[in-house]
Amino acid sequence: MAKIGILTGGGDCPGLNPVIRAVVRKGLNEGYTIVGIKNGWKGLIENDTVPLDLAAVSGILPKGGTILGTSRTNPYKKEGGVEKVKENFKKLGLDALIAVGGEDTLGVATKLTQEGIPVVGVPKTIDNDLSNTDYTFGFDTALNTATECIDRLHTTAESHHRIMVAEVMGRHAGWIAVEAGIAGGADVILIPELPIDIKEVCETIKKRHSRGKTFSIIVVAEGAQFKEGDFITQEKKLDEFGHVRLGGIGESIAAEIEKRTGYETRVTVLGHIQRGGTPSAFDRVLGTRFGVKAVEMVKNKKFGRMVALAGNKIIDVNIQEATGTLKTVDMELYEIAKVFFG
Ligand code: F6P
Repeated sequence: MAKIGILTGGGDCPGLNPVIRAVVRKGLNEGYTIVGIKNGWKGLIENDTVPLDLAAVSGILPKGGTILGTSRTNPYKKEGGVEKVKENFKKLGLDALIAVGGEDTLGVATKLTQEGIPVVGVPKTIDNDLSNTDYTFGFDTALNTATECIDRLHTTAESHHRIMVAEVMGRHAGWIAVEAGIAGGADVILIPELPIDIKEVCETIKKRHSRGKTFSIIVVAEGAQFKEGDFITQEKKLDEFGHVRLGGIGESIAAEIEKRTGYETRVTVLGHIQRGGTPSAFDRVLGTRFGVKAVEMVKNKKFGRMVALAGNKIIDVNIQEATGTLKTVDMELYEIAKVFFG
């Protein structure tokens, strides 16, 4: 009986469990045995696995996070890591691997494919920044959470006549900031794709106040940078994929706004609230469709490819192309957001 391994790597997001469930259900229907690899690539290096049968995936559809656990382990940064991955792939008797992850996890999947490991990729990330797919699952849930938070900030901002800065996630791409900003009626939205001009931000706020408004909502993506600046980070240490821990741009913006406008300003960092919790219906459906398609791709030996959403169709694309360049915010969408600034 052919065997499929499945792993979830990188930052967790809502919708991972619907993918796992779909892979198991479709896989069993097709006569495969499914093995869960724990904690991303770490589990394949350490041969840490769990059998996935019907009982193992029962009831996981609405659960956030991943029952398999995750990590930001990069086998290419571990002494003998890639050899271990290959060795354990053989030892486990796997015929194919389904890797569920973002740019980092799928970047490793791309390299392993080139080394002869049959991998199918499934794109996840709340950042929605993978190319060649209209959406990644996880994004919709994070967007809804961020929108609800902005709604909540509105009422307290209005009551206290304050400026509220909401810092949302988004390392290289400001999709959450732009879409939650539009949905939540933000007065200024700052994203990694465009350098922050703090003078312009303050002028926009002042203009708004001059037409009688006594509060403003500013949404900033954690990866946004001042014109002459760099990422604002919590610590300088790099992870195994070369990323720093972002966070703090909201505080910097708020301090500048208060200093330059004289308006009382507060900051809320949404952080991992955006990654947690039950997946939205959209993410459950997308994750389910991705999982079923991934098994079909294994069946058709479409390795080195990634499932993707194009319009309302699930297709497969080249995994290397999907992870080679990030999908940044569509500037036409940002122009729409700008109509409501000030
Ligand atoms: O990749 C998704 C993401 O949530 C980014 O938006 C964020 O910068 C990063 O993960 C945070 O990672 P961690 O949970 O490892 O601190």
